[in-house]
Amino acid sequence: MKKAAIIYQSKTGITRKFGEEISRYLLTKGIETQTISVSDYKNGIIEQSDYVLLGCWTAGFMLFFFQHPDKIWKRFAQELPGLGGKKVALFTTYKIATGSMFNSMRKYLADKGTDLSVELKSRKGDLSLENKTTLDRFLEN
Ligand SMILES: Cc1cc2nc3c(=O)[nH]c(=O)nc-3n(C[C@H](O)[C@H](O)[C@H](O)COP(=O)(O)O)c2cc1C
Repeated sequence: MKKAAIIYQSKTGITRKFGEEISRYLLTKGIETQTISVSDYKNGIIEQSDYVLLGCWTAGFMLFFFQHPDKIWKRFAQELPGLGGKKVALFTTYKIATGSMFNSMRKYLADKGTDLSVELKSRKGDLSLENKTTLDRFLEN
C-alpha cells in the first residue's frame, strides 16, 4: 500500500480542513494517509512516504502579489530532508488570490531535489472537481 504524508500549517483551521479533505480523497484511491500539522511533524514521516503534500495558508496583503507562506512554514520547509524520489504536491487556502504563494513555497523547497509543480488551492477547504482531477494525475504519473 502506498503512503501519503499530508503536512499543513493552519492558523484558523481552513488549511487543516483542506488537508483532511485531500486525505479523505486519497483514502478512496487506496492510499494510506497521515495528516499532521507542521508542529506535530516527526523525523522519518517523509522518509516512509511515497507521496508528500505540503500545505500552508496564504499570507500577504490581500492583493495579487507578495503572497508567501507563514514564517513557521518557511522554517519547517527549510529544515526538511531531501525529497528526491518522493512525489510532492503543494496546497494552500486563501481568501482572494494565491498570487505569488506557490512560487514562494517553491523557493523554500528549491534545494530538495524534486518536482514541485503540482498545486492545489481552495478558498474554504473543500476539494473541488479540479483538485480531484489534479490529484488523479498526481497519483497516475
Ligand atoms: C495576515 C493575513 C494575511 C492574509 N493575506 C492573504 C492574501 O494576501 N491573499 C489571500 O487571498 N488571502 C489572504 N489571507 C487569508 C488566508 O489565507 C485564508 O483565510 C486562509 O484560508 C486561512 O487559512 P487557515 O484557516 O488554515 O489559517 C490572509 C490572512 C491573514 C490572517
